[in-house]
Amino acid sequence: MRHLLSTKALTRDEAIGLLDIAEDMAAVQEREVKKLPTLRGKTVVNLFFEDSTRTRISFEAAAKRLSADVINFSAKGSSVSKGESLKDTAQTLQAMGADGVVIRHPASGAPHLLATSGWIDAGVVNAGDGTHEHPTQALLDAFTMRRRIHGAAARGKGLDGIRVVIVGDILHSRVARSNVWLLETLGAETTLVAPPTLVPVDTAGWPAQISHDLDASLAEHPDVVMMLRIQAERMHGAFFPDSREYSRLWGLDDGRFAQLPATTMVMHPGPMNRGLEIAAAAADSPQSTVREQVANGVSVRMAALYLLLSGGLD
Ligand code: CP
Repeated sequence: MRHLLSTKALTRDEAIGLLDIAEDMAAVQEREVKKLPTLRGKTVVNLFFEDSTRTRISFEAAAKRLSADVINFSAKGSSVSKGESLKDTAQTLQAMGADGVVIRHPASGAPHLLATSGWIDAGVVNAGDGTHEHPTQALLDAFTMRRRIHGAAARGKGLDGIRVVIVGDILHSRVARSNVWLLETLGAETTLVAPPTLVPVDTAGWPAQISHDLDASLAEHPDVVMMLRIQAERMHGAFFPDSREYSRLWGLDDGRFAQLPATTMVMHPGPMNRGLEIAAAAADSPQSTVREQVANGVSVRMAALYLLLSGGLD
């Protein structure tokens, strides 16, 4: 595999192999000198057509810690505003010597198009495409779960038997889609909890249970509760319950958080709508992995760039 476009395409061995390399990269992050010479002479382009804080900065840090040169491209302020196409934008960056392209785009399938069109030779990493997939987010989520559950013995392990409840705006969530496939590959059991209007119509083939009852799902004491952001910017005509009703029925509020066992992990990919899908008490608790997820994202993205740009995923 020359590209990382989807978790659905990853085998169990590939996923665990990448998580194990991320463990090696995490060990590098704990050293005084955090850099490796591995990608010296390579150029990584961060091609962002949508806003991002965590993913863009994390890929930039990951590439720099592997000694690659980094070019950051944001559609805002570029010639995209003059009508330049994805093809011409990508070929312009290729002409500047890109070996790897990390792309975030509002259109589902844009990274796949870039990887398969023949427009560019670079390896392509999907950093989030529309409502489709966000594979490195799911990989860093799995890495975080595996580390919390298995600690120093995490290497070589999957997430067999781990029960994960993913709650919120599943309809618009590329994070949920990437997690559903990766969690299945790693042996976990997933339940998706959402209002009926925020469940995609195509979940019949997904390896996950669907529920609309958060309290019933939490009463089964899952190992992980992953809250998702309400994506108000993507609510094109979809019915959205009002904020107070949403919080009351599907939010991890103070009352629900207090009922969770102390061992339940509370995850959120960020950015969070505090007070809507998650209360501050839950987001800032020792059970919360929100900041760990961000830190682990650098190690996971170092592993992905290393594997792609050194031919390790071929
Ligand atoms: N989790 C995530 O993708 O965050 P950003 O949109 O800030 O990159």
